[in-house]
Amino acid sequence: RILILDFGSQVTQLIARRVRESGVYCEIWPFTASVEKIRAFGPRGIILSGSPASVHDANAPALPEGLFELGLPVLGICYGQQAMCQLLGGKVETHEHREFGRAYVDVAEPCALFHGVWHVGAREQVWMSHGDRVTALPPGFRAVAHSEGAPYAIIADEARKLYGVQFHPEVVHTPHGAALLRNFTHGVAGCKGNWTMASFRDLEMARIREQVCEGRVICGLSGGVDSSVAAKLIHDAIGDQLTCIFVDPGILRAGEAEEVVRTFRDEFNIRLVHRDASDLFLNALAGVTDPEVKRKTIGRLFIEVFEEEAAKLGGAQFLAQGTLYPDVIESVSFSGGPSVTIKSHHNVGGLPERMNMQLVEPLRELFKDEVRALGREIGVPERIVSRHPFPGPGLAIRIPGDITREKLDLLRKVDSIYLEEIRKAGLYDEIWQAFAVLLPVRTVGVMGDGRTYDQACALRAVTSTDGMTAEVYPFSFDFLNRVAGRIVNEVRGINRVTYDITSKPPGTIEWE
Ligand code: XMP
Repeated sequence: RILILDFGSQVTQLIARRVRESGVYCEIWPFTASVEKIRAFGPRGIILSGSPASVHDANAPALPEGLFELGLPVLGICYGQQAMCQLLGGKVETHEHREFGRAYVDVAEPCALFHGVWHVGAREQVWMSHGDRVTALPPGFRAVAHSEGAPYAIIADEARKLYGVQFHPEVVHTPHGAALLRNFTHGVAGCKGNWTMASFRDLEMARIREQVCEGRVICGLSGGVDSSVAAKLIHDAIGDQLTCIFVDPGILRAGEAEEVVRTFRDEFNIRLVHRDASDLFLNALAGVTDPEVKRKTIGRLFIEVFEEEAAKLGGAQFLAQGTLYPDVIESVSFSGGPSVTIKSHHNVGGLPERMNMQLVEPLRELFKDEVRALGREIGVPERIVSRHPFPGPGLAIRIPGDITREKLDLLRKVDSIYLEEIRKAGLYDEIWQAFAVLLPVRTVGVMGDGRTYDQACALRAVTSTDGMTAEVYPFSFDFLNRVAGRIVNEVRGINRVTYDITSKPPGTIEWE
């Protein structure tokens, strides 16, 4: 395993992604970690991340005291390189020649990081983003590559297995970055690279059994990827000691509730409580038009109904949650000096505390695409594993204005046609999220010889990597034309279709 010490770079998580992709388990810890804790974790090597800070800042984030006494291989990236150099007796200066973006390094000497990737004399593309740079090496180091803005672009002390790179090997704009990292983790640090989803599954099932023993676990199931994979994994580990609770709020897409029941109860033989709470939710939402009030109402009811069902079951000591790694990483932030903030990681707002239960979180070490890989490994169907994100408040935030059963039914019909055509065209996996919105607008149309005065709908499809920013998906005109034709012909009550071409920012993905 590898430990990544985070100094607050925006892209620290990418380092972890690259390392794990090469089959090596790693964790991200804040730079404040103590050497005792690091030793207990037992990493084969340490990677120091970049940072928005400068080593010359008054309260610059410092390396853990005694880090180098551990005798472990260390790779410093950008700020990590500078902090290492400064501590070991080199020099770091702020220079007016700042480098941001694509740059080239000239490989001057052989180095373990280059094995099988870069050769002496080659000029290689990398991604730089720095103001400070190393200007004098600590004893024992040599420079093995240079760039225009960084005479010590890559440095190495091969005897002590200490390495530093001024650029960012973790971003895709450094084409051979993943291979360089692999040379550090596998070559220098000697990791075997046998961390796979199959090995994770075995380990995690054993951990679940050990934690739960003879106890009973309840798990809220939403039909989404995370709760589905968590539930299946826990069931594989402890069988009928697990009961899932599926609350149907009446604001899901067409056929979704049936699919959850069919998959989990019939296919997986998991004990499943299916509570149809649509009356309760829709009554509470009647006349509510404010999006935030919709969200709060839905969130509150979810908890109430879940607690009610859990109480009926009685006797469970454990609550399972599909918490993911990005929610539990203690993140280093830099508003007014470095600080470590721990993100709240309870998807179901305070449920575990209120219910006085212990958490079972089998996915808390995984990134989203690792959860998908695990899901495939344990036989969760592809239609669930590769599913687009769906918001907790469901269709309620895709109907601006108040919500009624009639409107929901209308939207479900439009949405199904749209998604069916997307799947038929083989586009589903290229899109981050695609859905329809029912607009609170009536417009005039003609149908046959008659005049219509019906509702309009909007279609939305975006690409994204994390939902924070999004681009409109560029459907062909033929495709849009075909979908619109089907919708106005097949859905009575809709006579106009528009395509939303707003990116995020300034738009959001959802309309509410
Ligand atoms: P926006 O609309 O803010 O959405 O661009 C970004 C991502 O978050 C989802 N989303 C939600 N998910 N509860 C959720 O569980 C919500 O209230 C909520 N609002 C937006 C949205 O679908 C997209 O994936």
